[in-house]
Amino acid sequence: MSNCLQSWPEPIVRVQGLSESGIREIPDRYVKRPADRPCFKETTTLSSSSHVLDNIPLINLENLKSSDESIRDETIELISKACREWGFFQVVNHGVSHELMANARGVWREFFHLPPEEKQKFANSPVTYEGYGSRLGVEKGGKLDWSDYFFLHYLPEPLRDDKKWPSLPITCRKIIAEYGQEAVKLCRKITNILSINLGLNENYLHTKFGGDNERGACLRVNFYPKCPQPDLTLGLSSHSDPGGMTLLLPDTDVPGLQVRRGDEWITVKPVPNAFIINIGDQIQVLSNAIYKSIEHRVIVNSGKERVSLAFFYNPGGDILIKPADELVTEDQPALYLPTTFNEYRAFIRTNGPRGKSQVESLKSPR
Ligand code: OGA
Ligand code: NI
Repeated sequence: MSNCLQSWPEPIVRVQGLSESGIREIPDRYVKRPADRPCFKETTTLSSSSHVLDNIPLINLENLKSSDESIRDETIELISKACREWGFFQVVNHGVSHELMANARGVWREFFHLPPEEKQKFANSPVTYEGYGSRLGVEKGGKLDWSDYFFLHYLPEPLRDDKKWPSLPITCRKIIAEYGQEAVKLCRKITNILSINLGLNENYLHTKFGGDNERGACLRVNFYPKCPQPDLTLGLSSHSDPGGMTLLLPDTDVPGLQVRRGDEWITVKPVPNAFIINIGDQIQVLSNAIYKSIEHRVIVNSGKERVSLAFFYNPGGDILIKPADELVTEDQPALYLPTTFNEYRAFIRTNGPRGKSQVESLKSPR
């Protein structure tokens, strides 16, 4: 398989360049099948939020520090319910400085507005995906999403190479390092709560991810340029996140993320200074599907570009991930075959985003 991952199957086209060229119609490569197109309800204008039907749960993490035990318990229970019923929630008062969040979004927005030749220095390949990219998947002639991105490794430390991170704006590397450190701390806290809520030792997920030395973390910064025909395409096709857990910092003033709820797509309304957290496939496997990674996608619009920072918190690449023994019973046998995260993520890197087809493929034969 690695042979076909050495280079992109065709020349890379930057979506931002397409968008800025002023085209009125998007190339066929970006036109989705009718069934996959976003369905804009009564409005597609950004000034109106009337298409927002519902929102994912919002949790105030400060309540975990309350002196009132019932408030602490209630908050832990809200997280438990959000994981079981939604697989997605937003958190506020999470301890990460709002200034750092704004700076992180700011430097990345600046990066994407650098001249093309500056960004091109960091052009990626499908070997590691690190760097500036415009596609996920290597299938020749495959449909593409309306976005560019930058992907980098933060943990484990041997994989971190800040020379592969943008050199401009000049504060970029420093801010990424600081942001990564805070994001890791928050993810660690959340995995402890998830472990407790699953009835496991509080360090269970941390240990299974490989502990301080082996756990992985990477950042994917998504750039969704304005799109002249937003009803025909997607910024990011439906997928579940392959890793452990995702900490998403969305743009505050432009919605775009949609979360699957049965047959409906819920457009998430971002709360200022909140992070969006979602369960990835590895926690679905470890929890033996008590928690599920939920499908999500991104819609684009003709009025405003959008930037989001997806911080993926993952098991170390070589660790075998399988359902927790404690959660496997006669009534609820192990649903998934053991796999390492490195093996697992080769699928999305080859095929691109494909809903939940991958985690389904791990189902153990009965
Ligand atoms: C992702 C993702 C959502 C967004 O990068 O995996 O789902 O809002 N991003 O950009
Ligand atoms: Ni995602």
